[in-house]
Amino acid sequence: MVWELFNLLKTAEEEISSVQNEKDLENWRIKYLGRKSPLSLFFKELKNFSPSEKKELGKKANEIRKKLVDLYEKKKNEFQADNNLHFSPVKQNKKTNFFDITQPGKKTPLSHLHPLTLVFNELTDLFGNLGFQIVEGPDIETEYYNFDALRIPEDHPAREMWDTFWLAPKDKKQKSKLLLRTHTSPMQIRFMEKHQPPFRIIVPGRCFRYEATDFSHEIQFHQIEGLVVDENVSLANFKSIVNNILMTFFRKNIEIRFRNSYFPFVSPGIEVDIKFKKAKSSVYKNKWLEIMGAGMVHPELFQNVGYEKNQWQGFAFGLGVERLTMLKYNIPDIRLFFSSDIRFLKQF
Ligand code: PHE
Repeated sequence: MVWELFNLLKTAEEEISSVQNEKDLENWRIKYLGRKSPLSLFFKELKNFSPSEKKELGKKANEIRKKLVDLYEKKKNEFQADNNLHFSPVKQNKKTNFFDITQPGKKTPLSHLHPLTLVFNELTDLFGNLGFQIVEGPDIETEYYNFDALRIPEDHPAREMWDTFWLAPKDKKQKSKLLLRTHTSPMQIRFMEKHQPPFRIIVPGRCFRYEATDFSHEIQFHQIEGLVVDENVSLANFKSIVNNILMTFFRKNIEIRFRNSYFPFVSPGIEVDIKFKKAKSSVYKNKWLEIMGAGMVHPELFQNVGYEKNQWQGFAFGLGVERLTMLKYNIPDIRLFFSSDIRFLKQF
């Protein structure tokens, strides 16, 4: 009887080597390890033997059973490894060796650009077309560039407009205190120190303010600073550039309003508001919304960077990039930009 079982093992081995797919493997398992397999029947008959025979035969039969199980597991693992190789839903038919190349492949989800990146790209393109050069500056600034050189001395009330993240000094010798820039305007000074007019630049960059967050305030946000210096520039030039950029950017009917304002580094200072004329569903419908501060460069700034007196005129502006993005895409809360919420990001 045990002899028969050994023969069985041999045929089982031969058969499994020609098994080509999972279905055949399952049939093999039923034939050799199933409830009606010769091996199972043999175990059932064991009770008719004497205890010593039972022990001997049982041991042999168990060994054979283990070998059969091993054969089965090995083959199964081979199939599984094969399946993992074919990550495409199209599987090669093993029997016919046919591979259907017309079947659609598996789609890989595409990544998205962040809405702020989209707006940065678009605006830098638009300004680029108008001959603006793009420059960048450091996020960590000195007190001099962020405030003093822009006519905002320590005791000036305007400093309160910029709640500042001050950085711990590296050593006592450090001349100017360090901070996270509260606006991109320090680059006006840095650029003018190194370049002679005429020029027109924009400075896209990240800014920081130490303030409570709500739907329209974040401790970090972005601005695009603009600076145009030449012999004969006026607010009329500024207005025409702003009109041109905003009309192209929003591609719909907007109204633009220029308002008097105050910034120590410009004179006169103005603020620009926009309103959507016929926005049907916008959360910003029919409201005037402030999008930038601007003005004619204060003559003292030209002095601070060593330009010849009375030779140059210029205008500067600072655009709020989050604001523009919220208006363009109808986004109700500034905190969404930094939330990394995939449901938000997927929409762009
Ligand atoms: N830096 C100002 C702000 O952060 C904006 C501004 C830029 C105003 C340039 C005038 C000129 O609010």
